[in-house]
Amino acid sequence: MSNEKELNIAVNPTSNTAITTLILLANAGYDKALAILEKMGVEKEKIFHDVDKEDMINRPSDIVRELRYVALNRTIEECGYGTLLDLPCGYTPKVFEFTEKGMNYIGCDLPAVINDFAPIIYSMTDEDQKKKIDFQIVDVTNYESLKAAADKADGPVCIATEGLTVYLTPDEKLLLRKNIRRILSEKGGCWLSADVETMEYYMAVFRAVAGDDKAYDLLAAARRGFSGQSDTSIHKNASDVFAGKVKERAGFSKVDYEKIEALAKAEGLLVEKIPYYRDDFELHLFDSMSSDEIEKLRENMKHVNIWKYTLDPEYKEKESSGSSGAVQSDKDLPFKVESELKDGVLNVNIQGRMDTITAPELLKKFKESEGKITAINVDVSHMPYVSSAGLRVLLMMYKSLEDKDKFEMTGVSKEVREIFETTGFDQFFMKD
Ligand SMILES: C[S@@+](CC[C@H](N)C(=O)[O-])C[C@H]1O[C@@H](n2cnc3c(N)ncnc32)[C@H](O)[C@@H]1O
Repeated sequence: MSNEKELNIAVNPTSNTAITTLILLANAGYDKALAILEKMGVEKEKIFHDVDKEDMINRPSDIVRELRYVALNRTIEECGYGTLLDLPCGYTPKVFEFTEKGMNYIGCDLPAVINDFAPIIYSMTDEDQKKKIDFQIVDVTNYESLKAAADKADGPVCIATEGLTVYLTPDEKLLLRKNIRRILSEKGGCWLSADVETMEYYMAVFRAVAGDDKAYDLLAAARRGFSGQSDTSIHKNASDVFAGKVKERAGFSKVDYEKIEALAKAEGLLVEKIPYYRDDFELHLFDSMSSDEIEKLRENMKHVNIWKYTLDPEYKEKESSGSSGAVQSDKDLPFKVESELKDGVLNVNIQGRMDTITAPELLKKFKESEGKITAINVDVSHMPYVSSAGLRVLLMMYKSLEDKDKFEMTGVSKEVREIFETTGFDQFFMKD
């Protein structure tokens, strides 16, 4: 694993999930989705799949993707802002939909996606369209990367999110909300999320197609299939991943929407719930549905919403202590990894925030010595934050050792310790 793309995907494999969404849109008849896939060199056999009327997993999953695409696009348009900040963009054909309508488009995603996607889109657009398009490598937990993207817009932005938050830990979701609030306070605009009511949304579609009795079991089976595309269980229980087994848990706990709304309010964001479904929608996949299924879908979707967040004008941000002090805090340090291999012992010193953008550097250093290492010492005293991408690399390093007691981590701050504890990683990295 030496090339940049492989390193990027290894630290955060969720970028693979965006290709699935694109394939489903192409299969549903979206020409631009097909054109992007062709540019990516994906073979036709991998794109087109017959979906049997009796297939109660793939058929509703396809509908979920198309309806989400159509519903979010409609809501973005209704917001009326001049710039769409697509967070994350994946390999979406939205870039064409919106620039053709005269909007500016800023596509944001992890490096593995942007490095592939941006050149493809630029090769498919004319000079006028190109002026309306920007791309930016963003890790949503990293405020600076998000700010760099938002700064490409002249005025207020409509930030739109679909298919992201399921891949984030609770800590990362909190950071996402805080980062977005800061962006909205600087640029103005709104944040649309099709993700908050994901569970209700999937259930509404699965119940319409598979019936109320079977919907839970089928959705559980579909979820297992999706999580196979990425190792999202790393967030939930590190020991499962470590032991190499993924526990089969349905995981349909009731979501407390009032609590989510209250949390947003406490962080300075107001919530407006916008109906997800509109009666005038004409999905391509309606052709594959019976009129009874379409009617049930319409009925089930009545209670499902896209959440629109805007700044609460009454909110006053608490002064963040130390941020304007003369002493540079670890948060501001540029990322750097120093490593030395001596007599089989790899000594590593990490400085700065370790997230999807920076973690590949650590992985690269580790891979250069892999096979010759018998013990690892990691000094994290100047690492103020670690996201799941960083945890993933630390776990790879830990797992590579025959004798796990030879993995040592020093200088763990209170904040980083909390991240280890909430993700279950303390059992590996914190032995006392
Ligand atoms: C299921 S795809 C959805 C993409 C797009 N919204 C769509 O509907 O096609 C999930 C995307 O989230 C991105 N992603 C995951 N974690 C991220 C993070 N921390 N920061 C930015 N993007 C992230 C992945 O790279 C992937 O492209």
